[in-house]
This record gives sequence, structure tokens and C-alpha cells, in this order.
Amino acid sequence: MSDTQPGNIENVLQEDRRFPPPAEFKPRVSFKTNAEYEAAWNRAKDDPAGFWGELAKENLEWFEPFTSVMSGDMPETKWFEGGKINASVQCLDRHLEKNANKAAIIWEGEPGDTRVLRYQDLHREVCKFANVLKRLGIETGDRVTIYMPMVPELVIAMLACARIGATHSIIFAGFSAEAVADRNNDAQAKLVITADAGWRRGKEVPLKAAVDESLEKSPSVEKVVVYQRTGADVTMVPDRDYWWHELMENESTDCEAVALDSEHPLFILYTSGSTGKPKGVLHTTAGYMLGTTMTTRWTFDLSDEDTYWCTADIGWITGHSYIVYGPLSNGATSVMYEGAPNWPDEGRFWELVEKYQVSIFYTAPTAIRAFMKWGDQWPGKADLSSLRLLGTVGEPINPEAWMWYHEVIGGERCPIVDTWWQTETGGIMLTPVPGVTETKPGSCTKPLPGVVPAIFDEQGNALEINQGGLLVMTQPWPHMLRTLYGDHDRFVETYFSKFEGIYFAGDGARTDEDGYYWILGRVDDVLNVSGHRLSTMEVESALVAHEAVAEAAVVGFPHDLKGEGICCFVTLKSGEPNAEMKKELTAHVRKQIGAIATPDQIRFAPALPKTRSGKIMRRLLRDIAAGRETAGDTTTLEDSNILAALRKNDDS
Ligand code: PRX
Repeated sequence: MSDTQPGNIENVLQEDRRFPPPAEFKPRVSFKTNAEYEAAWNRAKDDPAGFWGELAKENLEWFEPFTSVMSGDMPETKWFEGGKINASVQCLDRHLEKNANKAAIIWEGEPGDTRVLRYQDLHREVCKFANVLKRLGIETGDRVTIYMPMVPELVIAMLACARIGATHSIIFAGFSAEAVADRNNDAQAKLVITADAGWRRGKEVPLKAAVDESLEKSPSVEKVVVYQRTGADVTMVPDRDYWWHELMENESTDCEAVALDSEHPLFILYTSGSTGKPKGVLHTTAGYMLGTTMTTRWTFDLSDEDTYWCTADIGWITGHSYIVYGPLSNGATSVMYEGAPNWPDEGRFWELVEKYQVSIFYTAPTAIRAFMKWGDQWPGKADLSSLRLLGTVGEPINPEAWMWYHEVIGGERCPIVDTWWQTETGGIMLTPVPGVTETKPGSCTKPLPGVVPAIFDEQGNALEINQGGLLVMTQPWPHMLRTLYGDHDRFVETYFSKFEGIYFAGDGARTDEDGYYWILGRVDDVLNVSGHRLSTMEVESALVAHEAVAEAAVVGFPHDLKGEGICCFVTLKSGEPNAEMKKELTAHVRKQIGAIATPDQIRFAPALPKTRSGKIMRRLLRDIAAGRETAGDTTTLEDSNILAALRKNDDS
């Protein structure tokens, strides 16, 4: 559907600044020197089974040892077969002997209420809720949808599922009822765990009401558990809906964890692809746990002395891997915050850093750009001297934002880890090693051990230094996705058909003379809006589902805060192309997908620019959306008057 040429991508950014590791930063549990990192990387490349096998023995808690480390080529590689394991034991039980009284989660609600859950508290609540799940008829292998605000019960629900071997599917609480229904159906979920509502900028976001609406269209769901967060009015359907607190009241605190196969499905997480419905990325237990455990340690140097805060929402992969599984597996103390960064004012994050003495802070470029816009006075009010390491994830960070983060937040003393990875990769793949790798603003630098990337042209030839091309992984890693739930063919087709037996990430990239990687963005029809993937196709489908719309094409354009904004070109079959209709279509897309997909621009046109063979020329639409002159060839355009009409129509 796209008319771009993804191979041989032009690269325009020239960045010469370099930042040697700050002398103050002393690695605690990560690699101590570049030589140590390189030795590990080479070992993992030459002997992946030896490398990962040793780590799995040392760092994972096994009921029964595995008999083989890895078997089979990509995409069918299996890890740690024969082993029996449980992710909740790895995250909780293992720490009870030495660290029962250590804070696992320091939680702050948006209104300012706080809770601290020690490892023994979290363990107790998880055991109780696992018993609740069993009582509600959930068995090993069932799928459970979780649609909750950022409260500790979300973590409890996840780990309770893991404890009994139910596969969780978390849906970001900003998605709409329609999106929840689609995901319930795709996963054939039996149970939904939700809350009455969540808090966002002082307003209640109704969640139970959305679940009620979704259940009209998702017949597989038998029961709903509702956690009371805000006290909002909700309708409880008898014999279907149950209050969390009532179920937990007399529940036993004993719940033996189920010994699961290494490859037992731990969770499904839906993500956007370039075509069709969302993809249910499936991660399994042992490989994912090993990957998140080790990458947390290597990337964040997360030790017993640290207070770590990842600001992501658990509804995305970053929250799964680096709020829940990675940090808890390492026995760390994590801060978890429920609400918005600018509530009650723009200084909230920095107040939290000071209040909890956060030492490691992990956020997204889109947030950093918002902080820059709000002004230095906000971080200036807080004492940020507890910070020793900063991280970013989700999209390429522009060097200006990197420099601001380095100077204003990091006081020029904290290394920045710019971490490249994906829902599919399960854990961080490319990142500086803190205190070891020299950094360059805008580059995610080097692969972690076990990650063997390359840059290919369209034909699968490895490209030279400074040639932009397609980012691929040539060797399997334990925490990679295993399939797309219910659609193994689509899994093979999406990631492994462009180059056989090689993982194609969908991103463009180049390497420089030092072997550093520079990500050039997505090469498919996937937008990166505030660090979250959205498929242009999904927004188009939502638009054409509206009765007034004949045809729609959606493209991204550069957006100061969001990274990419959503521009919709729409041809109407009825109704007036006016401001009223724009409002209506905007609301329609929000209802179909959720607030995350709210269009930034809607432009009406009597027709869309097409080639003579009927293909929409997205390249032209992207130029128009970005306000650029149309570069390149327009001679294949069927009707050249259309472009002028589209350009004129830019009042939004
Ligand atoms: O395009 C890359 C971008 O985000 C995509 C993955 O999105 P998602 O699966 O939603 O996961 C986001 C959090 C892991 C990638 O294909 N991306 C992620 N991190 C970076 C990045 N682009 C550049 N630099 C990064 N550090």
C-alpha cells in the first residue's frame, strides 16, 4: 500500500557531539568496562547457547532444570525446553528470604495518595488474587484481559495470572470500548479485570462503562472483576461483575505457583502493524524473564541501593518489561505513578524525583519535549541531585531534547541510555552501557550481548557505514516474540519473509564509523505518535466506517511534541466538508480506537491523488501534511489538479 522505497534511506542528520562516560558514574551491577561488555557481546555472538544457558542457570529460579538452551532456527527458535518455571516466583517468592521487607513498589496516585508495597505485601496480594482467579474458574492457559489504571492492583493482577499460568492481555486504559472488544475477541478472553475509573488530570476516566460496552460485542468473556479506584458510579451485572475488594476479603494467602513449561505463554500484547487488525504479540515465560532480568541490569545498572522510576504506562511493553517483570525480577524498588506529568502542575515529576530520591529515571522523548516546552523553572524548583542515570525509549530522540535532558535533568553528570527496542523484541536491544559507552546525542549506540543486528538493502545485502537501510536481527534472542496470537502465518510473513530466517524490525537505520546505530524511523505505514505505534490503516478503517466517508488516507507529519501527528485526507460521499464534519470525524476515530489516535488534521478533498493503477500516492500526501513542497516525480499522478485542491484545504 505504501509507495515509499524503504531500502537505501537518505540520512540527513549530522551529529558530531560526543560524551564520554561521566567519571562520577560507577557501574554497580552492569558491565564495568568496555572490554567486559565486548567480551560478553562476542561470547554471546559466538556461543549463544553457552552464554544464555549460564545466565539462565544463575539468574532464574527453576522448578526443574532445562534440558536444552535453544533449538531451531528463527523464527521457530525455542528456549530452555524441558525447564519448569513461574514468572511470579521469579519476581516475588525468590526475594522473600532476604528482602521481604524491602519496598517493591512505591506508588503515588494522581490525587496525591500514596502506598508502599514491600515484597511480602505484593506476594501476599498476588497469592490472594491468584486464588480469586481460580475461584472464578480461570485455569492455566486461559486468557485474561486487564484494562486498568496505573494502580498497584494492575501489577497484582498480572502476577496473579502468571502465578496460575493464565495469559494476560493488558489493554492500555486510553483505548476505546471498540478496541477492548476487538482484543477480547482475538484473544478469546474469559475474564476482564478493570476498575470503576482512573484519574487523569483531575478527571475520572470511566473504565467499567467502556468494558460494559465492549462486552456487548465480546461473547467469550464470562466474568468481570472491578477494582474500586475513584468511587465512580458503575452498573454491576449480577453473576457477571464482582468487586475486587469483596472477592479478596476472606481469600487465603497461600497459593502455590504452577510449574510451567519454559515456553508457556506469559502474555499477549496488542500492537499496530501496517495492515489489518492489531497484532497479538505473544511472549513466553523463561526467555522473556531472562531477557528482562538481564537487560534491566545491563542497561539501568539497577542495584539494591537504587530507587528506579520508569514513567511508562503498564499498558505498553515498556511498562510490562521495565516496571514489572525486569525490576521485580531483580528485587528492585520501583516508583509507580498513576497520573499525568502536568497535574496539578508541570513540576509533578520533579517533585516525585525529589520526594522519593529517584536515582534512575526512564521516560520517552515525547515527554522530554513537553518538559522543554513547559520550561526549566519546573525542574529548577526540585532537587534532582539523587539522579545518577537517565533513559529514553519509544522514538528517535532529537539531539536538542537529548542535550536538554543531559543538562537540565541530568546536571551533566548522568549517563543517558537511549534504548531502542520494540513490543516484539520484549526487551532492550540497542543501548549504551551506562558509564562505559561513549554517547552521541540521537544514537542508541550499540547492541547488547545476544543482539546481532545488521543493516540490509532491499535485496538483503549488508550495507556499508553511513548507508541508511533496513534494521534486521541475524541471531535469535531469548526474549523475542514467539508468534502473533492465533495467526502464526502472519507472524512469519510480517517479520521473517522479507529476509528468510532473519528478523526484520520495520525500522530504517544506519551505522557510523564507530559502529554506532542511528535509527531513522519506521519504513512501513506505521506512525509513531508520542512513542506509540499506530497503524495508518487502522485510522483509515475507522474513518471509512463512518457513513459519510467514501475514502480516506492517513499519513504522519512532524509534530513538535508528539514526534508524529496524524493527518487524515478524506473524501466524503455525503455531508458537508466543514468544521462540523471535522469534529464529528475526529470524535468518531476517538470512539473507534481511543484518544491516542485523535487526528491532528482532517483535510477534505474531492478525490485522493492516485497513480494510474489506482494506488494512493502517500509520498505526496506526506509532503502536503508536512507543508513541504512536493519533491520528486508527480508524472504518474492520474489527475494533477487534485494536489492543488489538497494544498488549499489546510485550515485545520
Ligand atoms: O520505530 C522504533 C521506535 O518504536 C518502535 C517500537 O514501538 P513499540 O513496539 O510501541 O515499542 C516502544 C517501546 C519499546 C520501534 O520500531 N523506537 C523505540 N525506541 C526507539 C525507537 N526509535 C528510535 N530510538 C529509540 N530509542
